[in-house]
Amino acid sequence: MKLVAGNSNSPLAEAIAAYLNSPLTKCSVRRFADMEIFVEIQENVRGEDAFVIQSTSYPANDHMMELLIIMDALRRASAKRITAVIPYFGYARQDRKAGPRTPISAKLVANLITHAGADRVLTLDLHAGQIQGFFDIPTDNLYAAPVMVKDIEENYDNGNLMVVSPDVGGVVRARGLAQRIGAPLAIIDKRRERAGVSEVMHVIGDVAGRSCIMVDDIVDSGGTLCNAAGALMDQGATEVSAYITHGVLSGGAVARISASALKNLIITDSIMPTEAVRVSHNIRVLSIAPLIGEAIARTSGEKSVSSLFD
Ligand code: R5P
Repeated sequence: MKLVAGNSNSPLAEAIAAYLNSPLTKCSVRRFADMEIFVEIQENVRGEDAFVIQSTSYPANDHMMELLIIMDALRRASAKRITAVIPYFGYARQDRKAGPRTPISAKLVANLITHAGADRVLTLDLHAGQIQGFFDIPTDNLYAAPVMVKDIEENYDNGNLMVVSPDVGGVVRARGLAQRIGAPLAIIDKRRERAGVSEVMHVIGDVAGRSCIMVDDIVDSGGTLCNAAGALMDQGATEVSAYITHGVLSGGAVARISASALKNLIITDSIMPTEAVRVSHNIRVLSIAPLIGEAIARTSGEKSVSSLFD
């Protein structure tokens, strides 16, 4: 097995390598003066089972190109099999035509990854499970839920919990977590009554007196979470925390979350945490390195990956 890392999340790649007790392959990913990317794999990879670890997080396009170019280098160096390990799969929110004359960029990205040389894809909490169908190569979508459940059991009194989906689109994900921890489920329904009128949050479910845990795949601007946390507190929740797989946290998101009604936001390290996240008083990071490391080991050993979630 050869583990190759791009520049998007070196600490996660190192942690995965440590879990697997297999050092990262020597590989140089550099920029020319005009910012073109140049890759050189500095070890023999002929006939190897190669895993390229790269999240397509900010700056998304640079990290995407790094991933593609690393796979091209591996393919031309005769790696036997290439697995694109993409803990955070950017562009996933562009998974349908949102209007006339708009692209389906998630499909374009899937095509690019396949044409660059990927034989398999290993990713985590895809925004929509159907994106697996955009690939015509085997695609494993891992779930951070077991890592989250363990943390919830260690930090919350289960008797009073209520799992909340911050929007209607996330109900399946939230229901799955609620079932795992044996808690009831509430849903926030965002509605704009008329064009030009601000959104109203309807809480479906009785959250009064409950400790609420919101679950989602992405926190980007933080708007969805902060507004939902406010609505839950207005309805009598005693406290609100959130477990979100991918901490995109663009712009002023960390400051927004810091000033919000959220007691705690727990994210994973699928995206490398910024300094602002590391010093934040109410954001905590869980590592998914053991989960991804185990999935890589099982893929390499041709063992079941889905049984990780039984
Ligand atoms: C949307 O469907 C996603 O699941 C997230 O709820 C969304 O991306 C969060 O975005 P923001 O933090 O900018 O509200």
